[in-house]
Amino acid sequence: VGGSIAARSTGRETAAELLASRARLPEPFRTPLPVPRVARPVSSTGGVDRYEIVQRVADREILPGMRTQVWGYDGQFPGPTIVGRSGREARVTVDNELPVPTSTHLHGGVTPPDSDGYPTDIVTPKGWRHQHADAGTGHGGIHMPTDAWRTSVRAKEYVYPLDQHAATLWYHDHRMDFSAPQVWRGLAGFFLVRDDTEQALPLPERERDIPLMICDRAFEEDGSFRYPSLDPSLKGEPGVEEPYMEGVMGDVTLVNGAPWPELEVDAARYRFRMLNASNARRYRLRLEPGGPLIQIASDVGLLARPEELGTVTLAPAERAEVVIDFSRWRPGTAVTLVNTLAGGGMGNVMRFRVTRKARDASRVPDRLADVESLSRARVAATRQFDFRLTAPSGSGSGHAWTINGHPFSTNRYLATPRLGTVERWRFTSDFHHPVHLHLAHFQVEARNGRPPAAHEHGWKDTVDVRPYETVDVLARFAGYRGRYMFHCHNLEHEDMAMMANFRVT
Ligand code: C2O
Ligand code: CU
Repeated sequence: VGGSIAARSTGRETAAELLASRARLPEPFRTPLPVPRVARPVSSTGGVDRYEIVQRVADREILPGMRTQVWGYDGQFPGPTIVGRSGREARVTVDNELPVPTSTHLHGGVTPPDSDGYPTDIVTPKGWRHQHADAGTGHGGIHMPTDAWRTSVRAKEYVYPLDQHAATLWYHDHRMDFSAPQVWRGLAGFFLVRDDTEQALPLPERERDIPLMICDRAFEEDGSFRYPSLDPSLKGEPGVEEPYMEGVMGDVTLVNGAPWPELEVDAARYRFRMLNASNARRYRLRLEPGGPLIQIASDVGLLARPEELGTVTLAPAERAEVVIDFSRWRPGTAVTLVNTLAGGGMGNVMRFRVTRKARDASRVPDRLADVESLSRARVAATRQFDFRLTAPSGSGSGHAWTINGHPFSTNRYLATPRLGTVERWRFTSDFHHPVHLHLAHFQVEARNGRPPAAHEHGWKDTVDVRPYETVDVLARFAGYRGRYMFHCHNLEHEDMAMMANFRVT
């Protein structure tokens, strides 16, 4: 089974792998690109910025003229952008008014364990009891030891010390077994970290510094999000779809929550913080009709120097910050951001329309940041992790997504790195698995023994491990001791237990 999946996944996606919308889909490039609003702290005293966010159900217009019910941070999709400062603590109180429990993870954050959004560290809605009350909306709670719920509170204050460099982070739901359907319904937002080094650079700023959350969705006829039921107890019932081995992919591309939007730009440089927030889809982004994407940052920080690229590949959860100089095109030109990994409508992402000549004091300097190379660090240990679809022993049903043969369990540890050390983690796989480490930032050392591609330089927290590849990363375990996790960020694989704990000792 693994072999045939891998073979299919290396080419373009086929229509059969998409979840087809039942709603009438809009013409591309008609909707203006929305930019998520920046959250205001409720207080900024004692060196701490405090935010309050309420997770709630809201109706939004995503497809023109239709209503989509979203589960959003402050009812928004994407959620409000939080802008933090390196070295300054942010505290975010998340209040849950949704009908389901949640857990919020700051992806890329160097965060103490009790604020890291561990999947069982949940915030429950009022009156919630731990029953299968939401069977049919997610993956069925099958991996859950009953004693594992650490907390059960209605609101939680997450503490983010932000002892880390400027970077484009994001926050999203991480609830045990249900991250995929809950993120699909809207639980994701940007969290930017700024610092003095980055702000001293002459890069494009303010209205020319724009985050782009790229993800795919499918819609029902009435405009609601369409997501297959993966409840095993419903298997075989009419109208109930099987889990998609590849993860769930839709047939509408959203950028900042709008379908195939258009952005009017000056003939000037712009900085785009691109995030692939899709559950399962990968993107190989390029400009049509050509032109460079100047990458300045990867997942968790600036590159040492800019990389001028024709394409940038993003697996789920990866980020790339790029500068595009629109002054190379005449006003009136339409420049399309396309995904060369998909055909048909899904080959489009969004469009830029160059409107007018404009003053531009920005530039991209040759040196961006001091990036210490971990290749010279002492490697304290080398560990290997195999991400694989495993046939269960005995007569169990179906296959399981596993790491070193284990589906997730809250009390199994696959590694115990020591605080302050650098380790080499070697990932192998049978399929596309975007592997994400909480807490530890890493550098890609080698892909099949060769140096990584340019877009994978710098500090990262997610690396795409492709079928039958061996990827080595050098990870620094710094910040905090305690329990953290690593997992496949294909959210359906994650929910189907392709996760593991490590403990920093
Ligand atoms: Cu973005 Cu553990 O996840
Ligand atoms: Cu996976």
